Amino acid sequence: MDAEIAELPLPASLEAEGGAAFAEMVAMTNAVTASVLGRSDLAGEPAAELAEARDPYSSVRIALARLDGRIVGRCLAVVPLEEGSRTAEVEVDVLPEARGQGIGSALLAWGAEVAGSAGRQVLQCWPFHRAVVPGEEVLVPPTAAGAVPAADAGARYLSRHGWRLGQVYRVSRIELSEARAATVSTGRAAREAASDYDLLTWTGATPPEHLDDLALLHARMPIDAPQSDLAVDEQEWNADRVLSHDERNSRGGILVVTAAARHRTSGRLVAFSTAYLGTDRSRPADQGDTLVLKEHRGHRLGVLVKAGLHEEIERVSPETPAVVTYNAEENRRMLAVNEAIGFRAVGSVGVWEKRTP
Ligand SMILES: CC(C)(COP(=O)(O)OP(=O)(O)OC[C@H]1O[C@@H](n2cnc3c(N)ncnc32)[C@H](O)[C@@H]1OP(=O)(O)O)[C@@H](O)C(=O)NCCC(=O)NCCS
Repeated sequence: MDAEIAELPLPASLEAEGGAAFAEMVAMTNAVTASVLGRSDLAGEPAAELAEARDPYSSVRIALARLDGRIVGRCLAVVPLEEGSRTAEVEVDVLPEARGQGIGSALLAWGAEVAGSAGRQVLQCWPFHRAVVPGEEVLVPPTAAGAVPAADAGARYLSRHGWRLGQVYRVSRIELSEARAATVSTGRAAREAASDYDLLTWTGATPPEHLDDLALLHARMPIDAPQSDLAVDEQEWNADRVLSHDERNSRGGILVVTAAARHRTSGRLVAFSTAYLGTDRSRPADQGDTLVLKEHRGHRLGVLVKAGLHEEIERVSPETPAVVTYNAEENRRMLAVNEAIGFRAVGSVGVWEKRTP
């Protein structure tokens, strides 16, 4: 292997030392994603990715692989700083033209070392996978929902390195203008069914009166969403962490759009859905969390907040063409909400895990 592998200290900004390398790295990972999925609309923006990497609740380290000075691969190692956390995220990407020389394996070993030295026994990653070709051999997770091609470069590589597929996520996209009529009518029906709830929407920072409710909704997200048999770290959220999340997004040029359902009797927010809009508004918005607290399920609140969210996105950013979302294949209820509104599958993500003794 002729590649040089070196850590890139996280730059303070894209203009600071290391900022240009960070931006080149994001362009490289975007090229890898486009090569897997055959579409480039899921590309990330450097400013947003840097803001995400500078999350004070995680330690994020990056190694770059260079061939003749050009970045051809990278490993992103994310260690949550949460008390009691057992997991670490290790993501590796190598440009198609630089594969098959051991660069990916060397980057993975670097990430495993970072996770191991932080005392983490569970490594996880979420790579995109190409679509299954009918008749080909597939890997199926323990949930028996979804599958990835056994011959996909990422699937082969992770299996060979002792990782196992725990879950498959469906990536879906909705065209906002095409789906508008359906959004309006399903949203109206949900508002009639959810007569004990009010729909609230806002754009940008969380209004101060909702910080505590949002903290509770965020904290419930990793617990209430289906996680197969994968290790899940609980997250502690409070008003400060919600403020920090809002501040990080604003620093990354990301506009956060939120829809929430307020229970009239208690006055509390009991369901929410968020979307992230980058500075390039010709790109689709990224769907963030959607959650209905367990005790309030069965009142069409999922449809209520999602339809409300799409209407709010169209209002504040009419040029945003679409929304892209990620859902566990076994999460039938969430997928049913999305299909009813008009989402269509465009790819898949595997959730992989490796436990070290
Ligand atoms: C998965 C990925 C990172 C692998 O990168 P890579 O640099 O090709 O990785 P390696 O070179 O270490 O291993 C790839 C193959 O080359 C082989 N290889 C490694 N060194 C070699 C060498 N010196 N000579 C010949 N073959 C070699 C490996 O045995 C492996 O074989 P396989 O195809 O049967 O798995 C790359 O395909 C990729 O970026 N995919 C998309 C993103 C992704 O899925 N990431 C993984 C999860 S985070």
